[in-house]
Amino acid sequence: TISNIKGLKQGRLKIAAVTTTKYFMPRVLGPFCAQYPGIDIAMEVVNRDRLLERLARNQDDLYIMGLPPDDLDVESEAFMENPLVVIAPVSHPLAQRKRIPFAELANETFLMREQGSGTRIAMEKLFQKRKTPIKIKMELGSNEAIKQAVAGGLGLAMLSRSTLNPDPRQEELAVLDAQGFPIMRAWHVVRPKGKDLSVVATTFLDFLRAHIKLLTPRLQISAPEYVQSPENK
Ligand code: PGA
Repeated sequence: TISNIKGLKQGRLKIAAVTTTKYFMPRVLGPFCAQYPGIDIAMEVVNRDRLLERLARNQDDLYIMGLPPDDLDVESEAFMENPLVVIAPVSHPLAQRKRIPFAELANETFLMREQGSGTRIAMEKLFQKRKTPIKIKMELGSNEAIKQAVAGGLGLAMLSRSTLNPDPRQEELAVLDAQGFPIMRAWHVVRPKGKDLSVVATTFLDFLRAHIKLLTPRLQISAPEYVQSPENK
């Protein structure tokens, strides 16, 4: 049909994305909208728990999240890396250190995302695996609030690298060189299994697959501060 001709595609794309993706999803949507001016987009930005509710009710075309659910029947594709890093205020003594052992890190107090956050789940899993309790100083409902609290000296935090400026010093933050970090995770695009995707949803999925590798260097998603030279290993 005419609506399938490139550039003439029309319709509405509904995406639900976890909060942490708001640091890069708009920059992925920019070139997509430029290429397909007939497609308009509604993007819900919610935490992982809210997103899973929307997914269970089939409220959107596509879902962008860190950790796909294992209790819902879904198809998921990893499309971009999502390193989890430890941040401290730039003046913190640990900011000068190399290869900080986990035990030392765990002695610090942490600022945590709210229950239902995928970032929080990743952090809890890590401490569980090490059978170490987390010293929680404060719980905050957004990545942005956590960054400001860390910069203000209230504690350390584990956040997706995606939430940080390419040069975190601009935000008065330091990414710590801690053993076992960054924890390499991925961003996934998820949909209910067997769901018939609309033309616009398929178009977006194809765009994501084709362009993300070109977009990511400019989005500074990789964590170059951790590309270790062989003698450092
Ligand atoms: P969150 O999800 O924004 O709910 O923390 C991020 C993630 O799943 O990595």
